[in-house]
Amino acid sequence: MRRFFTIKFQRVRIMREVAVRSLGRSGLKVSTLGLGTMTFGASSTYMKDLTADDDEARMIFDHALDRGITLIDTANSYSQGATERLLGDWLKGKRDTVVLASKCGLPIPPDSQAGPYRDRGLSRSHIVESCEASLRRLNTDHLDLYQMHMQDAAVPIDETLRACDDLVRSGKVRYIGCSNYTGYRLTEASLTARQSGLSPFISVQAQWSLAVRDAEREVVPAAMNQDMGVIVWSPLARGFLSGKFQRDQNAPAGSRLAAWSSSYARMDNDRNWATMATISEIADRSDVSCAAIAIAWLLTRSAVSSVLIGARSIAQFDAAFESSQVELSQSDIEALDAVSCPEWGYPYDFIGERQQW
Ligand SMILES: NC(=O)c1ccc[n+]([C@@H]2O[C@H](COP(=O)([O-])OP(=O)(O)OC[C@H]3O[C@@H](n4cnc5c(N)ncnc54)[C@H](OP(=O)(O)O)[C@@H]3O)[C@@H](O)[C@H]2O)c1
Repeated sequence: MRRFFTIKFQRVRIMREVAVRSLGRSGLKVSTLGLGTMTFGASSTYMKDLTADDDEARMIFDHALDRGITLIDTANSYSQGATERLLGDWLKGKRDTVVLASKCGLPIPPDSQAGPYRDRGLSRSHIVESCEASLRRLNTDHLDLYQMHMQDAAVPIDETLRACDDLVRSGKVRYIGCSNYTGYRLTEASLTARQSGLSPFISVQAQWSLAVRDAEREVVPAAMNQDMGVIVWSPLARGFLSGKFQRDQNAPAGSRLAAWSSSYARMDNDRNWATMATISEIADRSDVSCAAIAIAWLLTRSAVSSVLIGARSIAQFDAAFESSQVELSQSDIEALDAVSCPEWGYPYDFIGERQQW
């Protein structure tokens, strides 16, 4: 009962206070909750009919800023550039109040005018041209963080790093980061930057949630080992951990996981339903949303610098934002760790019996 009143009281009192963490070993400070933008801008491809309309999106931007969120994450590929244009329009007069992060490297579907070798990947041409285009769409002369969206084994790592370093030196980009990198590639990038005197990736953006913990095998340890911050994407496993799905029932019509049936099939297993039951029990007891508990668990991980909220509505944003007011007890953390623990496999199990890998 006492906790109930504490939470209610804090809800009113600390609305504008989101903690801030350094992004890896850099001087860049980011709010521990960031705003993802993949749910904004009309899409004709994988997010078709799954995004907020532009008015709702603008309200969510204002709402997030009002609540102390500073990190906003976007990408050139979201909604074929419409997301960056919408954000760029909203940013007028507010540019200095946000830490603006974008990405390049994935193709901009459904087709690109640039041709098959220039429309994607991490070559010098694609990185430089994509950055110029993002700056134009975003109405700004610099990005605070420019992230390589997915590793590109076809391009030498020093070419990618040198192109990024040139952008940093020209002032178009303040810091660089990566996303969807394997542990070995992330380590290679870090060591190459150090040996060559180039700007290092200060962060890795990775999928991580109580339902998808694979990043803990290699990516998170590599990031910690190389002093990179982790920015988390899909913290609710594309909505699964929001609590709106029921075992043996179809995903609610109109939801992302109803449209992305293969993603839902991957979520639909005994471990994830048991995890969901534990989240629900803690959420009920704490009088907060399931989303808040799932995100609060991520915020207990020391590797995490920021968790990106993915919201289609103000209500979804608020449910996730409640995580900033949750302090999980040690026993709740241990229960969530245990119930969601995947099969790590070799050599992780072998090492794990003897020490932390
Ligand atoms: N680097 C990368 O490769 C990468 C990849 C993906 C995302 N990202 C970034 O990460 C951000 C967040 O990712 P995400 O959108 O996948 O996050 P997520 O939190 O895992 O999923 C968000 C989706 O879950 C559902 N949802 C969220 N809150 C809910 C609630 N309270 N009740 C019911 N349903 C709820 C909504 O979908 P429905 O309402 O449609 O069900 C929403 O669009 C993105 O915006 C983007 O910036 C990066």
